[in-house]
Amino acid sequence: DLGQDLAGRHVVVSAGGTREPLDPVRFLGNRSSGKQGYALARSAAARGARVTLVSANAALPEPAGVDVVPVGTAVQLREAVLKASADADAVVMAAAVADFRPGTYAAGKIKKKDGQEPAPIALVRNPDILAEIAGERPRPGQVVVGFAAETDDVLANGRAKLERKGCDLLVVNEVGERKTFGSEENEAVVLGADGSETPVPYGPKEALADTVWDLVAERLPENS
Ligand code: PMT
Repeated sequence: DLGQDLAGRHVVVSAGGTREPLDPVRFLGNRSSGKQGYALARSAAARGARVTLVSANAALPEPAGVDVVPVGTAVQLREAVLKASADADAVVMAAAVADFRPGTYAAGKIKKKDGQEPAPIALVRNPDILAEIAGERPRPGQVVVGFAAETDDVLANGRAKLERKGCDLLVVNEVGERKTFGSEENEAVVLGADGSETPVPYGPKEALADTVWDLVAERLPENS
């Protein structure tokens, strides 16, 4: 029993994958199902937290007692996360956010034209929400957690990303067949800005979620 160690706390979790529209029927997206973020939201609620779950395109049941804010794009996700973070004790960014979006949106469906090469898609940069929140800390003492899905040099890339983004904890998970994107299970190492490394063995996404909240709870200032 983990008890109610997050009672009186407000936590914000982002989940799912952003979709960046090209036209009314097409988007650039990724393979996030939202399962890891939803597991984090359920775990925090079970430990007594008030939870805001900013959910990007996840087709999952709403966790009981959680305030779900649905979003589509990275820009919408930023707005919702920043708004909810103003008074949050912790922010956990499990969402897979597109780094780039198409520079233009076609109001009508893009047509292919006979005998013409396809037009290239020009991309523009999306805001980096995690770096922004970690840099600004809307609430003093706020604990900020990022995720990183990596395919190679997992720990070295993770450590560099933690420093670049300025977060307190970074959950590094390796992209693989039966973990990370879409699956029920995950495996990770949680890196701390204090140099700590907490390995989480292969298992249900709920187990990783519980470990993340353990590490967050240790870092929260006394409840006032
Ligand atoms: O949803 P599931 O199917 O359960 O899969 C879970 C997951 C694989 C999506 C999750 O465990 C995970 O790893 N999420 C982060 C995916 C990722 O590759 O993130 P990133 O390396 O692009 O970004 C690093 C961090 O910065 C993330 O916390 C991300 O939310 C944040 N970010 C990224 C880009 C951006 N423009 N703004 C951000 O805030």
